[in-house]
Amino acid sequence: MESRLTDTIQPGEQVLFTLEDGKTFLVRMEAGKRHSTHRGSVDHDDVIGREWGDVLVSTSDRPVALIRPRGIDRMMKVHRRTNIMYPKDVAYLIAEMDLQSGSRVIEIGCGSGSMTQALSRAVAPGGQVISYDRRPEFLELARDNCAAAGITEVDFRLREARDPLEPGMDAIFTDVPEPWAEMEVIREALNGSGRYAAGIPTFNQAEKLAIALDHHGFAQIETVEILQRTILARGGKTRPAHRMIGHTQLLTTAVKVAPPPEPEPEPEAAAEPEGGTPTPDDE
Ligand SMILES: C[S@@+](CC[C@H](N)C(=O)[O-])C[C@H]1O[C@@H](n2cnc3c(N)ncnc32)[C@H](O)[C@@H]1O
Repeated sequence: MESRLTDTIQPGEQVLFTLEDGKTFLVRMEAGKRHSTHRGSVDHDDVIGREWGDVLVSTSDRPVALIRPRGIDRMMKVHRRTNIMYPKDVAYLIAEMDLQSGSRVIEIGCGSGSMTQALSRAVAPGGQVISYDRRPEFLELARDNCAAAGITEVDFRLREARDPLEPGMDAIFTDVPEPWAEMEVIREALNGSGRYAAGIPTFNQAEKLAIALDHHGFAQIETVEILQRTILARGGKTRPAHRMIGHTQLLTTAVKVAPPPEPEPEPEAAAEPEGGTPTPDDE
């Protein structure tokens, strides 16, 4: 399969400038521009045409590695005006929703468009992402953040809470404060056995959501929290890092199943023959 990745850095591409202290900057290459950091500046013209992974020296004589950004680098560097989903949670949810090339997925609450990028990459090629938000400014922000990451196929749509959703979906993801209010339209839009997933900030909300899912006939309802602890692996003194992200989101997943079949009506009692029930003596 032919790779879509370039061998050398081209104008218009984003590069992850990585400094020796671990700080990173996601920078789009434009001829004639200069990027300044706390460890000196770098001219874009010195970067364009270099191989990915090269290390150059800033105006302060400090090394700057030119790294090809991953999807998660682009997600974490979006221009944020909302909370965003974190990679540890995103990876789990994509696996839980079983997203793959060709899947059709809805997102309710695009926010800054960080999760939107992950959904779009997961269903490409041939899939579809429809991303709804009730605020036009967030649709615009998410569209811009996706475009900066090279993602232009997402169908962004304005919508009020409880408005109907596009039907025929394999999966639906929500990152909104009141997902339980959307259960009916989510159920309507999902294909049979379609997967639902949510990021949800508090235990109270997770509880309300689980009750609503149960009430609307979903199965395999599960809520998890993923804790990620960084280990500083160093000769003879390996230990966990002092700091850790304590809380991001609780993650709820479920699957749409058909309502249980109606119980069979009781067979009507056979009509008694005239003259009453025959006895062996009658024969
Ligand atoms: C926390 S942000 C989503 C962040 C996003 N997951 C990301 O990774 O960037 C929540 C978004 O949901 C939107 N929202 C809240 N309730 C909604 C609803 N019922 N329908 C559509 N959008 C909604 C808000 O306007 C906001 O943009």
